[in-house]
Formats: sequence, C-alpha cells, structure tokens
Amino acid sequence: MMINKNSPLPIYYQIEEHIKDLIDRKQLKPGDCLPSEREFAEQYQVSRMTIRQAITNLVNSGYVYRIKGKGTFVADQNVIELKLHGITSFTENIQALGMTPSSKIIEFRSSLADKSVATKLKINENESVYEIQRIRLANQIPMALETSFLSMNIVKNLSKETAAHSLYEYIQKALGLSLKYSTQTIEASAANKIESELLGIKKGSPILLMERITFLSDDQPIEFTKSIYRGDRYKFVVKIDQDS
Ligand code: GLP
Repeated sequence: MMINKNSPLPIYYQIEEHIKDLIDRKQLKPGDCLPSEREFAEQYQVSRMTIRQAITNLVNSGYVYRIKGKGTFVADQNVIELKLHGITSFTENIQALGMTPSSKIIEFRSSLADKSVATKLKINENESVYEIQRIRLANQIPMALETSFLSMNIVKNLSKETAAHSLYEYIQKALGLSLKYSTQTIEASAANKIESELLGIKKGSPILLMERITFLSDDQPIEFTKSIYRGDRYKFVVKIDQDS
C-alpha cells in the first residue's frame, strides 16, 4: 500500500485505515499475529512511532489486542450473545465464550450510601459501601464499564485485587453467600465523552445501560451494579417460557 505523504490525512491514520481494511476483507483473520512494529515500519517506509500510533488506535477501537511479550493479534469482531437467564458474572460469561476476562479498576473506595443507593441495597442512608468502577475486558478489549455498590457490613474485607478479579467469586466462595435472584433493567443510550474514552469507542456510540440488584436468599440485596455495555459488541438472549 502506498502512503500519501502529501495527503491532509495523518500518516498513522492512513495506515490504521489500511490495516482495518485488511481485517474487514478477512485478509487478516481473528487470531492472526500482526507484523512487528519494525516490519510494519519497513513495509510502509515510516517511523516506528507512526506505526505505534496506528496500532494503539486499533487496540483502542477493538480491532486488535496486545499480549505482553507475544505480539499484537487480530481481535474477533463477533458480537457476544449474552444469556440473561441465570445470575452469571462477567468473568464466567467471558470464560464460557473461550475468551480471557480481565478488569481495569478505575475507582475502588469506601463511600457513604446516598438515598438512591441505600434504597436499592435496603440499608440506611450514610451506611458505608464499597464503590467500585471497573472497565471489563475480554481478550484485552474493553466490553463494559461497571460501577458496583456493595454494603460493607455484608461484603467484608474486599480488596482491590479481589475486585480486579471477580466479585461474584469472592461473594460466593470466600464469603460463602449464595446469590438467589436478581432484578435487572436494560435501556439504550449513547456514550458520553468519559464513557467513550474508557471503552475505546466514539462519543455518541450506542450503549446499553443495565442496572442489576442481586439478592441473597433472605431477600437482602448484596450488590447494586450499573453497567454500560458496548452496543456494537452485545446482543442479549432471553429464554421465554410459555407459563411465565
Ligand atoms: C455482571 C453483572 C454485574 C456483576 C458482575 C460480577 O457483569 N452485570 O451486576 O457485578 O457480573 O462480575 P465479576 O464476578 O466478574 O466481578
């Protein structure tokens, strides 16, 4: 491919678009390893810095992902079909699809429940809660942004490391509590500036807002989570029984 150095389009952008085109036309397939920065730089006759900028943008938009020490790979562009029946965690859902889940913690702090959070968690206003905001990734691609509130009286000694792994695993395995049922709402929306930056999508892209309250067997809520799922990556599946 010829790079047009006189074009008003930045060179990194031209390279980025060319690689996207190769992926869209399946000349580069999911799982394929991209050439190294050095090889790309030689191929396009540009600096490695320019290549790095193009690749970083492709990582942010989910076209490719990096594995430390191994290289950069073409991501699967498929949409995730998420079953809404069953109280499964993000970690379990992504693992079930054969991908690797991970989280980036944006916020981990104790705060005092405001009226709305207290009502949802059925606790008193100003009781202490963990407030955790995480970017949830699958094969290093940002999929969702989740903000969870958990009562510190029920979910004890939660650490940032545990929250970076799986909240449900901690609640069920370490605390021995069983999750009985959830209520969940889903609404359409558009990503604002911060959400789009954290999820690596364009501002205004379609997103799905989900709010889940999960209860223990004594009807005590254990979590209230607001999730923002990428509209381009998720499709929800619901099982509908005749008699429900
Ligand atoms: C899903 C739910 C959240 C829940 C999370 C737990 O994403 N929508 O309400 O908090 O799973 O996931 P994990 O156990 O991986 O932290």
